[in-house]
Amino acid sequence: MTPPDRDAVMAVLDTVHDPELRRSIVALNMVRDVVIDAGAVTIDVKLTTAGCPLKDEIQRRVTDAVTPMEGVTAVTVHLEAMTDEERAALRHGIGGGPAHVSPFAEGARTKVIGVASGKGGVGKSSVTANLAVALARQGHSVGVLDADVYGYSIPRMMGIHRSAVMVEDLMLPVEAHGVRLISMGFLAKDDSPVIWRGPMLHKALTSFVTDVFWDDPDFLLIDLPPGTGDVALTIAQLIPTAHMVIVTTPPLTAQKVASRSAAMARRVSLPVVGVIENMSYFVAPDTGVRYDIFAGGGGEALATELGVPLLGRVPLEADVARAGDDGLPVVAARPDSVAARELATCADAIVDAVGVPDPAPVGTRDAAAHG
Ligand SMILES: Nc1ncnc2c1ncn2[C@@H]1O[C@H](COP(=O)(O)OP(=O)(O)OP(=O)(O)O)[C@@H](O)[C@H]1O
Ligand SMILES: [Mg+2]
Repeated sequence: MTPPDRDAVMAVLDTVHDPELRRSIVALNMVRDVVIDAGAVTIDVKLTTAGCPLKDEIQRRVTDAVTPMEGVTAVTVHLEAMTDEERAALRHGIGGGPAHVSPFAEGARTKVIGVASGKGGVGKSSVTANLAVALARQGHSVGVLDADVYGYSIPRMMGIHRSAVMVEDLMLPVEAHGVRLISMGFLAKDDSPVIWRGPMLHKALTSFVTDVFWDDPDFLLIDLPPGTGDVALTIAQLIPTAHMVIVTTPPLTAQKVASRSAAMARRVSLPVVGVIENMSYFVAPDTGVRYDIFAGGGGEALATELGVPLLGRVPLEADVARAGDDGLPVVAARPDSVAARELATCADAIVDAVGVPDPAPVGTRDAAAHG
């Protein structure tokens, strides 16, 4: 069988995308050399950094793409790091970043949803992670901005244990379960609490909006820290088109605190899409008997007070908590569980309320990659 020529191999490589930059490795100028000797194809690929955590994945994608080609008997992939000049050229080609305004400014297609509550520990982060995975499973492109700079927990919930890659001044989100995430957890060196002064906090959040390669997702979910503080105000300034979802638990005391965060939402004039009541009840897995552990109806009361819908009531379920340890959100781990179905229903309700964004303009991504 005649081996393919170089052009044919390049055409196939053009369909291989860098997992983080999400553009063709040919368009990104990452393919340096293709040598074909009889049926043996050797491909030199340049990585943005020598320590690229996804180099195995890139190698696999290249091998998988070229191996089935007619006449190919062996594929060898050589990986090496780009020079500073090459990296700068690539950085220039993908656009975005600090020199630019917020990618989520007025007129942007991304629907931004902040998840807030007045009180800590009601399940904001669990709800955010699961809503994000639910939206991704529906086929949407989804980003998560973990705005809990001091107490980030989403990386653990999503099972991410590595840092974010930088291309020059641009941070690349880390993908897990189809969701692209940025968190202080990718920058902090270890698990010690991050101590930031107010101005630093503002700077970090601004950076998370403008210096990240968000790449125009359909939805951006923001996990807000507990309380009504500066973070929501900063987010509201940075992303004035954001919507809010308020998470609460049944007891009315929690509802009182949550209503404070609703008041804050009104103050910063972000529309509240609805309320999610979490830890609403418990269904015994062995008997199927349902227990209303907390008296209160806090979710309904808060929704009524705000004049917004109650989007859903998520039961207390061991699998929801387990995700915190296993890094596998319940909507991915056990999509048929009551909690997962209720969270998926909440995601649907949010889409209904904020609308599906216009389709991403075709071709702009690859065109941008050519600079
Ligand atoms: N529906 C649920 N069923 C069982 N456990 C849950 C549920 N929701 C959340 N949890 C657990 O409750 C704890 C608090 O949840 P989570 O961290 O999501 O809350 P939070 O509001 O983000 O907290 P913080 O205010 O500290 O950021 C976690 O251990 C989580 O696994
Ligand atoms: Mg949290």
